[in-house]
Amino acid sequence: MKNLRVGVIGLGIGRGHVREFHRLPDVTVAALADPDAGRLESAGQEFAVNALYADGFEMIRQEGLDIVAVATPNAFHRDYTIAALRAGSHVLCEKPMALNARESAQMLAAARRAGKRIMINFSFRFSPQALALKKEVDAGALGEVYFGRTVWLRRRGVPGLGGWFSRKALSGGGPAPLWNVSFARTPVPEPATAGVLLIAWCSLCVIRRTHKGFD
Ligand SMILES: NC(=O)c1ccc[n+]([C@@H]2O[C@H](COP(=O)([O-])OP(=O)(O)OC[C@H]3O[C@@H](n4cnc5c(N)ncnc54)[C@H](O)[C@@H]3O)[C@@H](O)[C@H]2O)c1
Repeated sequence: MKNLRVGVIGLGIGRGHVREFHRLPDVTVAALADPDAGRLESAGQEFAVNALYADGFEMIRQEGLDIVAVATPNAFHRDYTIAALRAGSHVLCEKPMALNARESAQMLAAARRAGKRIMINFSFRFSPQALALKKEVDAGALGEVYFGRTVWLRRRGVPGLGGWFSRKALSGGGPAPLWNVSFARTPVPEPATAGVLLIAWCSLCVIRRTHKGFD
């Protein structure tokens, strides 16, 4: 099999992408990009990657990559994805896909035009629990599934409070659509309805009143 050259943009959770790609025998992590010089240098050293870029677009232009992984704040998913597809790379993009449905449709259209694949990292779909439930559903153990419900309760702590995660312009809506919708869809076959119960968000109203940097 051809050795696939991968570039990763965004080195928060993206560092985990680098780690997992690094373990695959047919993959070379060829380049990394992040405007945070500390994260960039440190990941470059740990995984022996020399091609380091402060600008992800520059990496896409220069490196001729087979695959680009986009793991930046949500607001940048669309533009990096479309640039990578146009440059002839397949794309693994973090969830949520984009800020809204319009941007997502643009990404899909770019993938079709380029004849390349785009995969969104709905990682919960590959969790042992979700896969086990899917197996039962596929085997008919639950009969015809027409409704699914997922509940995610986070009792304390807002991840990234004051950072991009709590800014609507950068996140597009925060963790509610991110966590629950992606998990709810897993075992429920199309076109059944996945109901999503969002409890955790109630407490955010209080946080919003008491913290700066939270939209
Ligand atoms: N699949 C999952 O379970 C999972 C888990 C966590 C995060 N995520 C997703 O991964 C993405 C990143 O989240 P995170 O938790 O790693 O955030 P983070 O803030 O820890 O890391 C984001 C990184 O992107 C870099 N960055 C910021 N602006 C950039 C730009 N314009 N171009 C390139 N890099 C830029 C930052 O310097 C930072 O290193 C988000 O879309 C998030 O929703 C998915």
